[in-house]
Amino acid sequence: MQIIRDLAGLEPALAAWREAGERLALVPTMGALHAGHMALVAEARRRAKRVVATIFVNPLQFGAGEDLDRYPRQEEADAALLEGGGCDLLWMPDVADLYPPGFATAISVSGISERWDGAARPGHFDGVATVVAKLLLGVRPNIALFGEKDFQQLAVIRRLVADLGLTVEIVGVPTVREADGLALSSRNAYLSSDERHRAVALPQALESAREAIRSGDPVDVSVAASIAALTAAGFGRVDYFALVDGATLAPLDQPAPGARLIAAAHLGSTRLIDNLAL
Ligand code: PAF
Repeated sequence: MQIIRDLAGLEPALAAWREAGERLALVPTMGALHAGHMALVAEARRRAKRVVATIFVNPLQFGAGEDLDRYPRQEEADAALLEGGGCDLLWMPDVADLYPPGFATAISVSGISERWDGAARPGHFDGVATVVAKLLLGVRPNIALFGEKDFQQLAVIRRLVADLGLTVEIVGVPTVREADGLALSSRNAYLSSDERHRAVALPQALESAREAIRSGDPVDVSVAASIAALTAAGFGRVDYFALVDGATLAPLDQPAPGARLIAAAHLGSTRLIDNLAL
């Protein structure tokens, strides 16, 4: 596996694959890799001849007071995992490479970015859209893969790619979970052992809401019961817990085809998100 740091080295590294017409997959990450990321790499391997991963902790998508400084960084372990997973090239740009002095452009995907995580984390999706556009333009892959755990992010990226007319297929990969149901996340590393124990209440609350709605209970009553269960389990602020349209993320008060339950809640100093198809 080749490791490239500077943007100038990227194109020469990709040139031979492009000339040979080899199908290229991109797996963008912020590092601190876990089995969820490796599922993206495995799916990329199945769908393309060459797999490029990126590790870049993108300052633009962190708000003031968020966890940019403490976000876990473990480059050597990540590189070893990617190599073992069959990744061909790892691009780890510096901040100055992606955002050179004077960088003044932001991409904002209105509408779909504005609710839920967009409301709880102002500017977050502008940062995501801007960096993903830069990574896609740098690598120009045939496909790019993102986890369904960040369900709104995936929808924002689909909108971005459609609106800019980028010729890349966006592939969503199902969430990978621990044995008890907790969705894998690099931020799970922040949880104390007691919080880790309690964190399972989030997927359980989503599952109970799903069962209640499927069995005909009103959406608002089901959601309220799940929020109460989160509070009882020791969660603090619940940023949102909602049934939404799976494509537009608009809130739903009735079950509908493609609907998704989405939630974000704080446990100690950690903010956890998760979602389930209805
Ligand atoms: O999901 C992530 O890890 C990040 O938001 C992404 C897509 C790599 C952009 O920084």
